[in-house]
Amino acid sequence: MKFYIITFLVMMLLLAGCNYQNGREAQDHSNHEDHESKKIYENNDDRRDRNNDDDDDDDGDAIDSKGKNTIKAPPKIEPDSKKGKHVTYSLNIQNGKTKFDGNTEVKTMGYNGDILGPTLDLKKGQKVTMNIKNNLDEKTTVHWHGLDVPGGKADGGPHAFIDPGEETKVEFTVNQEDATLWYHPHPHGKTAEQVYNGLAGFIYITDPNKKKDLPQDYGENDIPLVFQDRPIDSSGNMKSYSDAHKDNGMYANTVLVNGKKDPVLKVKNEKVRLRLLNGSNARDYQFKLDNNQSFEQIASDGGYLNKGVSKKSVDIAPAEREEIIVDFSKVQGNKVNIVNDENDIILPIEIDKSNENKKTVNTNDLNNLQSTEGELDKKPDKKITMEGMGKDVSINGKKFDHNRIDFTQKVGETEIWEIENKSEHESTNHNNMLHPFHVHGTQFRVISKNGKSPDTSLQGRKDTIALRPGEKAKIAVKFNHEGTYMLHCHILEHEDNGMMLNVRAKK
Ligand code: C2O
Ligand code: CU
Ligand code: CU
Repeated sequence: MKFYIITFLVMMLLLAGCNYQNGREAQDHSNHEDHESKKIYENNDDRRDRNNDDDDDDDGDAIDSKGKNTIKAPPKIEPDSKKGKHVTYSLNIQNGKTKFDGNTEVKTMGYNGDILGPTLDLKKGQKVTMNIKNNLDEKTTVHWHGLDVPGGKADGGPHAFIDPGEETKVEFTVNQEDATLWYHPHPHGKTAEQVYNGLAGFIYITDPNKKKDLPQDYGENDIPLVFQDRPIDSSGNMKSYSDAHKDNGMYANTVLVNGKKDPVLKVKNEKVRLRLLNGSNARDYQFKLDNNQSFEQIASDGGYLNKGVSKKSVDIAPAEREEIIVDFSKVQGNKVNIVNDENDIILPIEIDKSNENKKTVNTNDLNNLQSTEGELDKKPDKKITMEGMGKDVSINGKKFDHNRIDFTQKVGETEIWEIENKSEHESTNHNNMLHPFHVHGTQFRVISKNGKSPDTSLQGRKDTIALRPGEKAKIAVKFNHEGTYMLHCHILEHEDNGMMLNVRAKK
């Protein structure tokens, strides 16, 4: 059906002689130029209408999941040792092989496995030692996205290279509230490719002294889900990153969940906490349930909202996390799907209706973050402007330089940063030039968005904020530790193209 509608729309455009080009595509003449143009020219001699959506790995649609592969939560990492509050883990970064469909083996990368990585289950107050070994034949780093740690080595940004074969030890103390964080590589210029190949994992932070009445049986009613689009064909082949790469972000229309193609999730007849992570290179999603049922959002990137917020859909940009609680006992029948804004089936969910679990879930007093009044009128201490597309992306007109400190800030001091997405391009298709802005080593608060106080879902702690063209936000940023941190766009290709600056926090 969709195909016919799209074909019809494309024909209408061609008939109208419209030479509209969508913003992102217009500049992205890098890799797909040749075969795409040919395809279009066959139908239409000289007109370069690139709004045609029939490319197998274009933006736009996602292919419906056929629900063939039951997904599970990644295993939790086992500690090597645990003495009181000191816990030691090993992380081996390695090459692997993954079968996405049929018997085709695809070369992937993983932490302690073939693809993705185990969940690090960290407790507030713990002192953590990570023994990391790079078994790849290329450099990498391990960055703990959202973790409040000193800059530089502990943070695992692009200054913290681990050479092939090298073993290194990273230590930090966990000192933040309950949250869903994640870890991924950060070698400048190679981040997109290494994440594409499979390197990403979850971090759970929990405060053992502040127990909540929330679902917390890992993998049962507390399930981490990472969404990543990849160009994988029906025989299970995945394009190499160099073939899939686009300067404005790698978009594909097969959406893997927890590394599985055609995923299906099986749940019990109860309230289930889903921890959503957008681990895609560039694609942003709007998720909802196809029975139009509401759910409660309880947390964003860096922890709980003050209380659960009833919602029918959530927007999630690259690197963002949203925790939601879905009451599956309210679903009529035993199936419901997580769909995107085009109603493409991203994740079918099967519910075992045999008996209902009525455990209490209290989403009323989850946090008590202060209101931001007074800060609203404060003059920003830093102004940060994101601009451009493709290879021309920049922040404040600059591109990343390892050796240049672009900003400084005093440790422990809260500053107001004004962030603006100044991309000029019309963005009529799939919010192309949305830039998800991310800062390392801290969780910030959003004070305002476009001059207004932020939506409830932006009122929790955040480390990433998605801004569409023309949008502005004020955020309150504080670093608790010293060191050099990154601030960057989390469209990984933009980041690799230099849309990243250094901020040094010092005493
Ligand atoms: Cu997800 Cu610079 O990080
Ligand atoms: Cu980060
Ligand atoms: Cu960007």
